[in-house]
Amino acid sequence: MEVTQVLHMNGGTGETSYANNSLVQQKAICLTRVMREEAISSLYRSILPKRLAIADLGCSSGPNALFVISEAIKLVEKLCRELKHESPQYQIFMNDLPGNDFNNIFKSLHSFKEKLRSEIAGEHMGPCFFTGVPGSFYGRIFPDKSLHFVHSSYSLQWLSKVPEGLENNKGNIYMASNSPSNVPKAYYEQYKKDFSLFLKCRAEELVEGGRMVLTILGRRSHDPSSKECCYIWQLLTMALKHMVSKGRIKEEEMDSFNIPQYTPSPSEVEIEVEKEGSFSVTSLEISVLPWNAFDSEYGNLSESLRNGGYNVTKCMRAVAEPLLISHFGEAIIEELFALYQQILTETMSKEKTQFVNVTISLIRKPDY
Ligand SMILES: C[S@@+](CC[C@H](N)C(=O)[O-])C[C@H]1O[C@@H](n2cnc3c(N)ncnc32)[C@H](O)[C@@H]1O
Repeated sequence: MEVTQVLHMNGGTGETSYANNSLVQQKAICLTRVMREEAISSLYRSILPKRLAIADLGCSSGPNALFVISEAIKLVEKLCRELKHESPQYQIFMNDLPGNDFNNIFKSLHSFKEKLRSEIAGEHMGPCFFTGVPGSFYGRIFPDKSLHFVHSSYSLQWLSKVPEGLENNKGNIYMASNSPSNVPKAYYEQYKKDFSLFLKCRAEELVEGGRMVLTILGRRSHDPSSKECCYIWQLLTMALKHMVSKGRIKEEEMDSFNIPQYTPSPSEVEIEVEKEGSFSVTSLEISVLPWNAFDSEYGNLSESLRNGGYNVTKCMRAVAEPLLISHFGEAIIEELFALYQQILTETMSKEKTQFVNVTISLIRKPDY
């Protein structure tokens, strides 16, 4: 499987789209607002650029794609008023893999700009120039020293490829407590290669003093196959196994499927930053979010949205469906997700289930 060709979230605005099923990811963006505001305001105050270049890496499509951009521009505009400066020109880069539904973002740009102008109410705002950047962030995607601020949320846990040597990870689609010991090692090696390449590329693309705020789906535990990061995939494994037992999927097909993801611990993130050497860490935070984004804070929910299993299935389907279709074909999808929903509903009625987020704020060191 060529991950960069296959991986993308469900496009469009339909029932199974990422645009309509990404509330957990939006909550993660909200949780990290303070870190972003600190990074952007200290960047702006120290560099005072006339052209401010912001990139969102792994932006996907739907409301989340422009959410961070809107907050960043509003913050800079506020700073400009305080400092009595002219607004900068905003150069906004939206990056994702080529299969992403970029058109969904482009179509919403007009209303996005109108809304932003009305929120900045009556004040002059700098012009915004948007560009879609298709390509893997595990490689160069921008010219040297062309960016001031890089943001990425819920994207860097995706690896550039399925690690090599997972042939003996039979009966699993990810790391699990019963995976042979070479499996977590192979995943960790791939993560180290990918994340250090990501840092090296961004170090070339960011100006000195440029900032990055990265939120990665991660874990607190030292154990890479701990339940807090692997359970969500383990439950999908159970659904796939059931399909194998019914003869709907061949065993070899399941055995040869592995999720190209690694959910690092905070120290695994920090170690790579330190080893690569171009960035210093200004802060690192861990946050948690319930799997079910529609938890108790929502009042009048329809019956289906009160069902955590239903919500989490829709969220996971929007994320994993293209990968699953490319390996197993489309015919099994409805049945697979119906089973997954049953398993999730049962599990979530008995256990507290949470995603763990690792957010790191970085500053590009000067070149000596
Ligand atoms: C779960 S979505 C997150 C989208 C958005 N940032 C949010 O918070 O809602 C992860 C996105 O990362 C993208 N992605 C994964 N690997 C990538 C890579 N190597 N280069 C660029 N984008 C990548 C996926 O295609 C997907 O759109």
